[in-house]
Amino acid sequence: MSDEVAQARANENAGSTPGEARPKVVFEGVDKDFDQGGQPLPVLRGVDLTVKEGEFVCLLGPSGCGKSTLLNIAGGFESPTAGRVTIDGDPVNGPDARRVFVFQEYGIFPWASVWDNVALGLRHLGKAEQAAIIQPTIDMVGLQGFERSYPMELSGGMKQRVEVARALAVSPDVIYMDEPFGALDSLTRLQMRAEIVRIWQESQTTILFVTHDVDESIQIAERIVVLSARPGEISDIITVDLDHPRDLGSPEYGRIKNRLFETLGVSHSI
Ligand SMILES: Nc1ncnc2c1ncn2[C@@H]1O[C@H](COP(=O)(O)OP(=O)(O)OP(=O)(O)O)[C@@H](O)[C@H]1O
Ligand SMILES: [Mg+2]
Repeated sequence: MSDEVAQARANENAGSTPGEARPKVVFEGVDKDFDQGGQPLPVLRGVDLTVKEGEFVCLLGPSGCGKSTLLNIAGGFESPTAGRVTIDGDPVNGPDARRVFVFQEYGIFPWASVWDNVALGLRHLGKAEQAAIIQPTIDMVGLQGFERSYPMELSGGMKQRVEVARALAVSPDVIYMDEPFGALDSLTRLQMRAEIVRIWQESQTTILFVTHDVDESIQIAERIVVLSARPGEISDIITVDLDHPRDLGSPEYGRIKNRLFETLGVSHSI
């Protein structure tokens, strides 16, 4: 067998073709019911989705459609009622340090400095090894000069950067973000969207990002997965083929926005 054929076979077995990224997070027929006073509450139905390695995917859908539940299933905090999620082919059976969450509420510790918050996941390493990771990570999120500051001395956007730095410091293979910028003012949100795209491009991490903000999804994602109202089913998947920084006034941007509003069943001409 020639090297090329062997490579092609290996790629096929990995579920990809040459030049195409490998599947990273794979949802197969995921259903989720919660119990509501003894009755099953259907929350997710038949979710099939492959997130490729290094991809930035947004899950977009109305409030209560099951976005956080889907993320929690992928993170191993909830189990599906039917179907399964695999990461690198291994079924997700529980939380794993290689997959980290960034939430809307600040999860950083108020009693620890920026440096020490970022160091939290690195305690198994020596001080010099920690520093070799922490400083570039703090630099990457734009917090250089604030290493010794405490959270109460930081703005909302800066606190969210600490969260992102803490997530990146452990070199996760997937980052789950659940409306991480929801509590920020609109200007800071815009800035953080640009930052997260830059950080994603630099770190090449796979990101699964939940939002109910149509513009946010078009500004940041490579692919947008639209969920219907509960029970959440995938109602559309849109590839955003626009270079960064994205021109919010471009015809393609407008076309995608119209399609998303149509899929979500909302009128945006008021
Ligand atoms: N642990 C739970 N037990 C019972 N019901 C739950 C639980 N978690 C979520 N639900 C229900 O599942 C549905 C989906 O909730 P989920 O938090 O996933 O929605 P969401 O799309 O993230 O909404 P939002 O955009 O408001 O954050 C809701 O009806 C919610 O009440
Ligand atoms: Mg949610």
